[in-house]
Amino acid sequence: AGTSSLAVIPGDGIGPEVTAEALKVLEVASPVKLEPTRYDLGAERYLATGEVLPDSVLAEVRGHDAILLGAVGGKPNDPNLPPGILERGLLLRLRFELDHYVNLRPSRLLPGTASPLADDVLAKGEVDFVVVREGTEGPYTGNGGALRVGTPAEVATEVSVNTAYGVERVVRDAFARAEKRPRKKLTLIHKTNVLVNAGSLWWRTFEAVAAEHPDVSTDYMHVDAAMIFLATDPARFDVVVTDNLFGDIVTDLAAAITGGIGLAASGNVNPDRTAPSMFEPVHGSAPDIAGQQKADPTAAILSGALLLDHLGHADAAAAIEAAVLADLRDRTPGTSRRTSEVGDAIAARL
Ligand code: NAD
Ligand code: IPM
Ligand code: MN
Repeated sequence: AGTSSLAVIPGDGIGPEVTAEALKVLEVASPVKLEPTRYDLGAERYLATGEVLPDSVLAEVRGHDAILLGAVGGKPNDPNLPPGILERGLLLRLRFELDHYVNLRPSRLLPGTASPLADDVLAKGEVDFVVVREGTEGPYTGNGGALRVGTPAEVATEVSVNTAYGVERVVRDAFARAEKRPRKKLTLIHKTNVLVNAGSLWWRTFEAVAAEHPDVSTDYMHVDAAMIFLATDPARFDVVVTDNLFGDIVTDLAAAITGGIGLAASGNVNPDRTAPSMFEPVHGSAPDIAGQQKADPTAAILSGALLLDHLGHADAAAAIEAAVLADLRDRTPGTSRRTSEVGDAIAARL
């Protein structure tokens, strides 16, 4: 059909500010008419009604072609918000229920972008990689518990869940992505030297799938050493596959070395298309700058490009990327624009 329906969850903090700009740009760029429906999920609704993600709302969200999300979560350690209530109950519940097992996080140092990397590091080659972060398992599943809380004998556990099914499907996806890129290189990041049970499953799966892809060159790094290489030689990465928690950490550093968290986009992808995929910036609700039109909406706008690409509009996605590229080239260091001005400038280039 000539229309695509979007569930839009602006969320908390800077979420609504950056989502408004992403929608602005999407509406100009999309070759089909977009029909956005807003869902007022987040801290405000929770504090007013106690609701985080009612089943009826989840069912409605499931009926859309794609989901655009701003950010959820309050100030860290806000006494009015139980820790994790929105992160687990809303964001992770969406990722799990909609089977977003590929959390796709591209990192590219776009020309004209300021990088904190030293010149000799930048001289080693182009920084252009994509992290395929597992999105439905690992330590995020809520497996664990607390005993004797508040006593000197307290015990707290968070158990990382890794299934053969879950690891294989994300590793296969990463190999397929590596195969489509010019360098055809895939790096597994894990901690097989300490997390021996999960590590063994990931390593054996990686080796087995690698045997089916002789054209893809493979590499392995322990997650701690990977931090060294991200800072000293990021050009060595092409596609990275890793578990849910390592991927969370790796992608904030990846954002920081490629222009900052204000530029980092992501897609929570259901590659089998059994449910809508969800697109959101890597960053959070940034309570420290919320409501001031200070947030950079570029990450949300680039997440919109990933959304269009997922819906089959590769040309429109490329047009958004080109508009962002042009906008980045023209940014004057030391000056800042309002959130809406950045959105207007990028939309105007389309
Ligand atoms: P954060 O990403 O919100 O902020 C970290 C720092 O980056 C802050 O200084 C912030 O001002 C800055 N920043 C973030 N986005 C920016 C942008 N677009 N432009 C300019 N500066 C930007 O991380 P945090 O402070 O650890 O978390 C704040 C809240 O967000 C927490 O409740 C956390 O749970 C939640 N969170 C949500 C998501 C999500 O919804 N996907 C992701 C991460 C964190
Ligand atoms: C992210 C965030 C989330 C994560 C939190 C808020 C649940 O940090 O999208 O990177 O850890 O996945
Ligand atoms: Mn994160």
